[in-house]
Amino acid sequence: MKQQIIMRLLTGIAGLGIALGAATAHATPESDRQAFIKYYTSKYPNIKLEDYVYGALAFDEDSKAQYDAIMEFPPFESDIDAGRKMWETPFKNGKTYASCLPGGGQQIAGNYPMFDEAKGKVVTLNDAINDCRVANGEEAFKINDAKTLGKLTAYMRTLSDGMMMNIKVQGPKATAAYEDGKKTFFSRKGQLNFACSSCHVQNAGVRLRSELISPAVGHAVHWPVFRGGDNLVMLQNRYTGCFKQVRAVPPAEGSVTMNNLEYFHSSLSNGLPMKASVFRK
Ligand code: HEC
Repeated sequence: MKQQIIMRLLTGIAGLGIALGAATAHATPESDRQAFIKYYTSKYPNIKLEDYVYGALAFDEDSKAQYDAIMEFPPFESDIDAGRKMWETPFKNGKTYASCLPGGGQQIAGNYPMFDEAKGKVVTLNDAINDCRVANGEEAFKINDAKTLGKLTAYMRTLSDGMMMNIKVQGPKATAAYEDGKKTFFSRKGQLNFACSSCHVQNAGVRLRSELISPAVGHAVHWPVFRGGDNLVMLQNRYTGCFKQVRAVPPAEGSVTMNNLEYFHSSLSNGLPMKASVFRK
């Protein structure tokens, strides 16, 4: 069984080399993004780019219909409400998240992760929220903790719905961080020796066991997700799950490696609209 899956995953690698190997030489983030899109859209000419925000659902009408029905009355509304309360509750010093995040926290999620020149590293939206807490005398939340940052961002990110993903990679240090994330995405690891790309590029649209695999373009716009109804999962939580699927030891969430991966991975979705807190299987 395992052997069969591996064989299936290995087919199609040649195509990837042609599509992205060339892009690696003198690639810019924009030419990388275009290469990914070209690879997927030539393989699946009937799927519109704007539908990539639905991930694997774009490849399966029945699952998409189920998604639409669930999204009409989301079973996770109460978590989003709890997040709203967290968002609106002032810190002990009377300040709020809105007072310390850019733009009052509205229409900003698509700018993250961003490269912070002063810090010399990538900052995710969760990092920015924690920085805001610390600057106001509150303790930082445990990074990527579903009960705190998960709930808060399940609401907070809805304030950016409709904004286009707009990751900027400018200057040598930002480029190095982007390249590091790209390397992680394409590096084979774990006992099964798969890279993110083995599944989400070569095998996007292919069924692995019972699951259709989603393309990486469109991946980063819709977080957090509620899996199966109320299991709240943030983007790096998902990365951890995928590392474990191939029996690799995941880098720590919030680490430079994970943040750089999120930086590269998010830029692949540039130009697609953000939509927070959606259902996933
Ligand atoms: C063995 C194949 C495999 C590998 C390798 C893999 N994934 Fe996944 N991944 C899946 C499957 C299966 C799902 C669930 C179905 C789907 O949405 O694609 C998934 C889901 C995801 C999702 C959620 C998609 C959504 O719309 O909710 C993201 C994001 C993701 N993977 C990122 C990654 C990253 C980053 C890596 C590399 C660290 C990686 N994956 C490696 C198989 C894999």
